[in-house]
Amino acid sequence: MSKAVVNVGIIGFGTVGSGTARIILQNGALIEKRTGKKIILKRIADLDIVRDRGVAVPPGVLTTDAYEIINDPSIDVVVELVGGIQPAKKFMLDALKQGKHVVTANKALLATKGHEIFKEAEAQGKSVGFEAAVAGGIPIIKVMREGLVANNILSIYGIINGTSNYILTRMTREGAPFEKVLEDAQDLGYAENDPTWDIEGIDTAHKLTLLASLSYGIPLSFDRIYKEGITAITPEDIAYASELGYKIKLLAIAKVVNSEIELRVHPTMLPEDSLISKVDDVLNAVYVIGDAVGETMYYGRGAGDMPTGSAVVSDIIDIASRGKGRCCSFLSAGPCGYTIKDSLDIETMYYFRFTVLDRPGVLSKISGVLGAHNISISAVIQKERREGEAVPLVVLTHRAKERDIVNAVKEIDTLPVIAAKTRFIRVEGKE
Ligand code: NDP
Ligand code: HSE
Repeated sequence: MSKAVVNVGIIGFGTVGSGTARIILQNGALIEKRTGKKIILKRIADLDIVRDRGVAVPPGVLTTDAYEIINDPSIDVVVELVGGIQPAKKFMLDALKQGKHVVTANKALLATKGHEIFKEAEAQGKSVGFEAAVAGGIPIIKVMREGLVANNILSIYGIINGTSNYILTRMTREGAPFEKVLEDAQDLGYAENDPTWDIEGIDTAHKLTLLASLSYGIPLSFDRIYKEGITAITPEDIAYASELGYKIKLLAIAKVVNSEIELRVHPTMLPEDSLISKVDDVLNAVYVIGDAVGETMYYGRGAGDMPTGSAVVSDIIDIASRGKGRCCSFLSAGPCGYTIKDSLDIETMYYFRFTVLDRPGVLSKISGVLGAHNISISAVIQKERREGEAVPLVVLTHRAKERDIVNAVKEIDTLPVIAAKTRFIRVEGKE
């Protein structure tokens, strides 16, 4: 596009829309001085244009009709910040058809319908900017696309859902109840409209889908990602993890093992002295290992109005600075040579919390089953003694195959000494 003046229309004046508008209005002069690009906030569309959004926009900017933006020939960039699948998808496709560039924070839409949107963008020679869709304010898309372009990406470990990290942090720090902390995350504008996307690992998987496509040239593979959220994590698990020297984080993992890629999202126990385990509250971090660069880590606010707005505005400037559309070369790069590994074939270490009837010989029964499934134990904790009653028995394993773990748990849960369903959490880090 490469124009000195960029006319922008924002659809959706909620958390991210208002942050984006505030940044354009507050920092516009600074941005122009730095980049030579003047961003004009021409229109903002929202269903409710009466509610105070905490941003004073010039008169005549607000409209309730998104198509006053999409069909306005003077608007260069349409920023979609409505969220969800429809009507966001239609807005984006129609904007592209009208010859607009599009910027979005909508990872759910791109992860599941991105092929249609990126195809249309390519057909129109327009850009789809989505820096804000992964890890909020952290410029991780730019890092993967540009900064690390010289590398084969060996692995990515990300804390990329602010809401879950905020919940786990407050459960760990204050012993706060899950439901209460989730409500706080909603009040702070961190959570998705449907917060089950945050706590069930779905939002993390949306973001991992985009990161993995970008990093490995694989098609968008949301459905192939193993997904498990944080709803089953108990204060008890957090306390045992701490006793064993670990913290529990909801992690997105992409890892190449012999031209197979592991793609998984699940609560993970991480050594508490590792850098990534120190990332707390709504903060996100993406730890990337490249074959040339080695270990790198990117850290910052993963949600909220201003951090996410910062990423949206950087996309607008990026588009304004380039002469032509840039979409997602990764999607048209042809066969990538990778296959996605079956999640049952992964290998890692495991934490088990068995609920057992406190009787002599219980541990030997359980360890017998584990041994029969090639699982060897590295640590055991059994603190409570209440003869004949249900008590927790915690076991940490050496590296084992997920398939063996699943089969062992099935067998163990049928033993008469087991009083409740067994819980397990995957453990990452050195043995
Ligand atoms: P909000 O719900 O706060 O904002 C969405 C806004 O869009 C609401 O004001 C909503 O109005 C409005 N809207 C709904 N339908 C229409 C329509 N047809 N036309 C015009 N406006 C409409 O969401 P967020 O700002 O939190 O999220 C926006 C996007 O950004 C989502 O894709 C989200 O996943 C993503 N995102 C959010 C982050 C965050 O921290 N919140 C961080 C990173 C990405 P109403 O409320 O009246 O329905
Ligand atoms: N709900 C998301 C989160 C918003 O908590 O990370 C940022 O993508």
